[in-house]
Amino acid sequence: MVAKKISTNTSSDRIMEIATGFQLSKILFTAVEFDIFNILDKKQLTAEETAKKCCLPIRSLKRLLNGAVALGLLRLRKGKYSNTMLSMKYLLKGNPEYIGDLMTAYNGMLYDKWGSLEDVIRKDKYQPVFGPTGDIIDNISTKPETARRAMMAQHNYSVKPAQEIIKSFDFSKHSMLLDLGGGTGVFSIMAAKKNRGLKAIVFDFPPTCKIAQDMILMHGLSDRVKTHPGNILKDRFPEGADIILISGVLDGYNERNCIKIIRKAFDYLPPGGTVIIKESIINDDRTGPIFPVLFSLALLLETEGGNARSRGEMTQWLKDAGFKKIKHDPLTEISGKFRNLGILTAVK
Ligand SMILES: C[S@@+](CC[C@H](N)C(=O)[O-])C[C@H]1O[C@@H](n2cnc3c(N)ncnc32)[C@H](O)[C@@H]1O
Repeated sequence: MVAKKISTNTSSDRIMEIATGFQLSKILFTAVEFDIFNILDKKQLTAEETAKKCCLPIRSLKRLLNGAVALGLLRLRKGKYSNTMLSMKYLLKGNPEYIGDLMTAYNGMLYDKWGSLEDVIRKDKYQPVFGPTGDIIDNISTKPETARRAMMAQHNYSVKPAQEIIKSFDFSKHSMLLDLGGGTGVFSIMAAKKNRGLKAIVFDFPPTCKIAQDMILMHGLSDRVKTHPGNILKDRFPEGADIILISGVLDGYNERNCIKIIRKAFDYLPPGGTVIIKESIINDDRTGPIFPVLFSLALLLETEGGNARSRGEMTQWLKDAGFKKIKHDPLTEISGKFRNLGILTAVK
């Protein structure tokens, strides 16, 4: 889609829009960082009043507030700033659609790293995001604080796709869901809430399982949703599931490991068992849509072998493993079109 725009739009405006993109995102991230949207919750404040509440110098803060107005994130009327519908919906803590933690992660974990894109491409080597060594998965697997930061952002990212999968996919025919790399357990929790006969196991690294346990407890589902700490590549899958979900996991790994996970899922499932893969799906030629293309570059920066995955390659991996009835469904109704999320389902 972007490629088309570039080829037909010869205005320098297009170049300028692309060039200034990094500044637009930094206005959003900085406003989230200073908690501006929550400070303005149900209030209309002048720049002076806002500066006082944030303990920030008025001269600079005013420029930021005006930047947020220009982006449609704040409104300015009669010298007072307030939230817009957009910021109210997505940037106020506690709202079901809150994605502020995701913005904090983009700012803290990715913004500076994108500055080293030239170096990463020159050396063909990722940059450790969280410390001196290891890719993002190594760090999540061993550091509880890193896992918590990354997982709260991931939770923001996953709420809508989880709602959409639960709405469109019938889990009632299944007795137990194995949620591989299940993160905060958002998919398992929602599936178990909707289907009272369903049990679920969130299989993830120990620090992440701890976060999932808290979430499961909060939802009162500890009797039916369990965690299984371990490594999905190296350890045996816990017994008993007839459906496996692999959401946002394959993008973190190279092709060899993706194939290994899918084969392991096939060998594990009983005949008739189902696998669901959820990803932000890149076109087969890998030049669009824009979000998975950005994601493929982000994964180049932060992982050793990760990449955005295409429908074609995932279908082939499923076929090669022996899966049948492979089907693709877009997840755009609730999750929106921008991320180009989709699921592939297949049966053993
Ligand atoms: C991008 S997150 C997706 C989380 C969740 N499935 C979702 O969609 O919200 C990837 C998850 O896979 C987990 N993961 C990646 N590799 C793993 C491995 N080898 N063993 C266990 N968990 C793994 C990470 O810890 C993380 O929770």
